[in-house]
Amino acid sequence: MLHAMAGRHPGFAAQGIAYHRGAFVPMEEATISIATHAFNYGTGCFEGIRGYWNAEREQLYLVKLRQHFRRLLNSAKLFRIDIRKPAEDLCEIAVELIRRNGYREDVYVRPLAYKASPIIKVGLLNLEDAYCCFTAPMGAYLDITNGLKVTVSGWRRNDDNSIPARAKATGGYINAALAVADAQAAGFDEAILLTHDGHVSEGSAANLFLVIDGRLITPAAADDILVGITRAAIIDVAGRLGIPVEERRVDRSELYVADEMFLCGTGVQVAPVASVDGRVLGDGKLGDVTRQIQDTYLAAVHGEMPEYLDWLTPVYEP
Ligand SMILES: Cc1ncc(COP(=O)(O)O)c(C=O)c1O
Repeated sequence: MLHAMAGRHPGFAAQGIAYHRGAFVPMEEATISIATHAFNYGTGCFEGIRGYWNAEREQLYLVKLRQHFRRLLNSAKLFRIDIRKPAEDLCEIAVELIRRNGYREDVYVRPLAYKASPIIKVGLLNLEDAYCCFTAPMGAYLDITNGLKVTVSGWRRNDDNSIPARAKATGGYINAALAVADAQAAGFDEAILLTHDGHVSEGSAANLFLVIDGRLITPAAADDILVGITRAAIIDVAGRLGIPVEERRVDRSELYVADEMFLCGTGVQVAPVASVDGRVLGDGKLGDVTRQIQDTYLAAVHGEMPEYLDWLTPVYEP
């Protein structure tokens, strides 16, 4: 099994204490039945939130916590899952969970809302809803120092009228998994998915930005993307750095002629792309605009820039 992952990070293992069905329990006790509806039919939705450890201040900062839980509640609404808690309570549970685990390192938080009934029947009505949240220590999800080799996938992004990408559905990730697994099997690091009408959508677990003539260009929300919280953060950073941003329909061929390109997301952070389908972007090295965005983003999420502290929720008492 592991040899298939040679050279790639195998992922991050969940550990410690989890929150499941209203209680904090050891991870081994946070289990579900194999008959669970969400396990059988993908009827769940989730979030991925990062916390960055600032050793100097002995503080762990959760990034855009409220925005993540607001998006979770919207996803849940779409899938008729009633979490029965407002965003504020979900934020508090996440903070308490990290405190109980005592993390003093970078961490990833994974809340999930799902159809819990052990019922064999497709649908969303008259099923029990459940909520859980677990954590894992997490470093880089993708390499963010050397440029990635990406390919345009033959798999199309699931469209808004099949499985809305805007909602972070557990079942929807089979689309991303097909694309990234085939890309990796062919020797690439990551896949770029197109919409059904052949325009650029996003990566398997990341949004993307191109740099063309000093402008940042990113596919529009209507192009079947998960409307990323990091994407919004980067648009914010670009505005403060005076870099113009266009959110618009992006042609596939623009990927091949862009000066720079990077992927962004909670897990991915800001990951530069070196080549697309073998065509080297710029000189294949980290571009100036990407470097500026990456430096600012990483400093901001580590709590090193006072002007971005409103992005962050500190976990521990100062
Ligand atoms: C498909 C997909 N697109 C984009 C993103 C980026 O979203 P965010 O910045 O909110 O993490 C993610 C998740 O990280 C994702 O899974």
